[in-house]
Amino acid sequence: MTIKVHPDPNALYPIEGVTRTCFLKNIIINTQIIVGDYTYYDDPEDIYNFEKNVLYLFDFIKDKLIIGKFCQIATGVRFIMNGSNHAMDSISTYPFKIFGKSWNFASMNVASKGDTIIENDVWIGNSVTIMPGVKISNGAIIGTNALVTKDIKPYAIVGGNPAKCIRKRFDDKTIDFLLQLEWWNWPIEKITENLLAITTGDLETLKKIYEEEKLD
Ligand SMILES: CC(C)(COP(=O)(O)OP(=O)(O)OC[C@H]1O[C@@H](n2cnc3c(N)ncnc32)[C@H](O)[C@@H]1OP(=O)(O)O)[C@@H](O)C(=O)NCCC(=O)NCCS
Repeated sequence: MTIKVHPDPNALYPIEGVTRTCFLKNIIINTQIIVGDYTYYDDPEDIYNFEKNVLYLFDFIKDKLIIGKFCQIATGVRFIMNGSNHAMDSISTYPFKIFGKSWNFASMNVASKGDTIIENDVWIGNSVTIMPGVKISNGAIIGTNALVTKDIKPYAIVGGNPAKCIRKRFDDKTIDFLLQLEWWNWPIEKITENLLAITTGDLETLKKIYEEEKLD
């Protein structure tokens, strides 16, 4: 008999009896952090460590951390946001201005590198650090302990400090197809129906669905 109830994206703890794994969007307080459905965070110590690891995120800078759907985020992943940067074109990098009083007039011109964007179905390994303004594209894998300083291409596997491409997960044609397919945007019923194809290498079934969809 098929089970008709899908895991609930609004559930804090989606795995019964397990408190180390949460659907991440349900614990986020800061409005500068946006997380999509089914993205989960795992932390055996405390799931609330996630937001503590989004570092130097200040409301006056207005940068955002945007994470898509179905991402998998391991313990100790840290996001360094734009508030971490000191002015580098000036004589001194010392942030005189933040201490106010007679130093209030000092200049503090730090360029923002923009939002940090993690697209969909991205797997971020244990203790990865992600620098400000980086975009990690759909389907990428970030290896344990990587320091991500630059944008990561779709379906790339990267690792190291600074993170470099280890290999691509699929050939370019397959990657193009998966980016058009965007299975993560399907209704959850359709994802569930086609889970076997998504969780194996059954590209033929996925291509058939895609073609049928185009005819509709
Ligand atoms: C990146 C990763 C996915 C690659 O897996 P894999 O394809 O089985 O890797 P392999 O062991 O075959 O190694 C392939 C190459 O990548 C390198 N590599 C593997 N993991 C790496 C990492 N984290 N950082 C840097 N290089 C790494 C290997 O040294 C090897 O290099 P070589 O080709 O020059 O010999 C895996 O090593 C990893 O880091 N997984 C994340 C685990 C994790 O943190 N999980 C958290 C809980 S969900």
